[in-house]
Amino acid sequence: MNTIVAEVRPAESKDAAALAAIHELSWRSAYSGLIPHGALNRMLGRRDAGWWDKAVRHRAAVVVIEFDGRAIGYATLGLNRTPALKVEGEIYELYLLPEFQGVGFGRRIFESARDMLALRGLKGLAVWTLAENQPAMRFYEGMGGTDIAEGSEAFDGRVMRKIAYVWR
Ligand SMILES: CC(C)(COP(=O)(O)OP(=O)(O)OC[C@H]1O[C@@H](n2cnc3c(N)ncnc32)[C@H](O)[C@@H]1OP(=O)(O)O)[C@@H](O)C(=O)NCCC(=O)NCCS
Repeated sequence: MNTIVAEVRPAESKDAAALAAIHELSWRSAYSGLIPHGALNRMLGRRDAGWWDKAVRHRAAVVVIEFDGRAIGYATLGLNRTPALKVEGEIYELYLLPEFQGVGFGRRIFESARDMLALRGLKGLAVWTLAENQPAMRFYEGMGGTDIAEGSEAFDGRVMRKIAYVWR
């Protein structure tokens, strides 16, 4: 009998095409109807496999979650960019293919990313999410995050609220 396991590992160049596909599908599913169409298309257009290949080779802060030999999600992480939040680490992005959402993979990759930040000596972490992305807010609350601050971001003139969660 085969045992099928999920594994979180640093992304490599060979993951670039899968990362581009996960990015495109998960962002379309999360943001179509929220972020204006043109702005979303431009963001997606920038992140082709070549972009991901460079990101993996130069920044090395991309992790993938693999299930049954296939990359099904990713997270990007590093230094917190908002000093006022008073934490050292940040998860910049956390996305799963739509068909793999809601069955525990998000918790798995979040906890691995948090451990990786801690291993780098970074104390505490932050995550930003759009306030209209209610499922993501419920997820971060489920992970024990505290909503601590809000900000805004404009997409083609549409100003959207975003919420910061922190783990001390
Ligand atoms: C957000 C995301 C990463 C969460 O991953 P997931 O695999 O769907 O979540 P999990 O199944 O691991 O859920 C983990 C916990 O959060 C809770 N949770 C997750 N989504 C929830 C929701 N919409 N409402 C309430 N609780 C939720 C679960 O009940 C679960 O609790 P438990 O472990 O105590 O049972 C994933 O759904 C995703 O990729 N969404 C689209 C992209 C996105 O919005 N990313 C975040 C951008 S900031």
